[in-house]
Amino acid sequence: SGTQLVKYNGFWFPVRAFKPVLSVQKYFKAKDSDIILCTLPKSGTTWLKALTFCIVNRHIYTIDQSPLLTSNPHTVVPFLEINLYWEQENPNLEHIRTPRIFGTHLPFSFLLQSIHESECKAIYICRNPLDQFVSFWHFMSKNEREKDGDPLAIDEAFDMFCHGINQFGPFWDHVLEYWNARLNNSQKVLFLKYEDLKEDVTLYIKKIAEFIGYPFSLEEEKQGLIQQIANLCSFSNLSNLDTNKKGKIIGMFDNSTYFRKGEVGDWANYLTPAMGERIEKLMENKLEGSGLVFKTKLATSYE
Ligand code: A3P
Repeated sequence: SGTQLVKYNGFWFPVRAFKPVLSVQKYFKAKDSDIILCTLPKSGTTWLKALTFCIVNRHIYTIDQSPLLTSNPHTVVPFLEINLYWEQENPNLEHIRTPRIFGTHLPFSFLLQSIHESECKAIYICRNPLDQFVSFWHFMSKNEREKDGDPLAIDEAFDMFCHGINQFGPFWDHVLEYWNARLNNSQKVLFLKYEDLKEDVTLYIKKIAEFIGYPFSLEEEKQGLIQQIANLCSFSNLSNLDTNKKGKIIGMFDNSTYFRKGEVGDWANYLTPAMGERIEKLMENKLEGSGLVFKTKLATSYE
């Protein structure tokens, strides 16, 4: 039961994504103006796509004309490794308006060559492993049930996760590759955490805008544009739009599956304290010496 995975160069990929993954590696040519949004699934991809799209296109669409009001963020900002592109071996992505924005779940080492050869920017967002795991388990279970499939029990999926077996994982390797890439080249990779954006999204909208070379003017700040972008892209706003309640992304999932709760610390409603401790121990062990830490609870619930 569950999705079949294949391991390649140290990472696990869903079998159906494997050909596109190889094609991206082989053929994708980054342009200097490209912006690549890199994530493990369920780490804030949808949110980051919406925010980045709004920042980059704010002179083209006003907030009340935003394509995000009528299309899911994954339609507006596609994944690099989707079959849509790679059905032919080497598709022409030249016609896409620049700056091109793509999402990807590929590990940094898979993008290395193309990224290094150009001036393009990569923004990575990750999320604490407990919430990422629980969010992904819900996502897969919902999609499996819709296909009349047989979703993995949460205990079994958790055990696999702890052994490093999860889509585009091991979790730690994916996160640490981007973390180290950011340390080596902070001009190339901006490293964000879902929990930080939950605490102060306007601060990170500004950081993203500066990083990709689209800083807000004082005038725009005074007009409240940053707050307007935050509101448009908020969980409550996006999840309540008709387009995100129905509809499906071509060849992919229901738009609604990208919006569940959007909270920090929801894992505690699904995992036992012992499971929480197991991940805390793994975290200590795997991230030791890296300087990377995750918050697994809302800031307000800290003692
Ligand atoms: P939960 O399942 O915990 O609710 P991704 O976008 O990487 O697929 O991740 C999906 C997770 O992000 C889901 O988490 C989803 O609810 C949450 N999410 C989606 N849009 C969001 C938004 N605009 N703001 C905050 N969280 C969002």
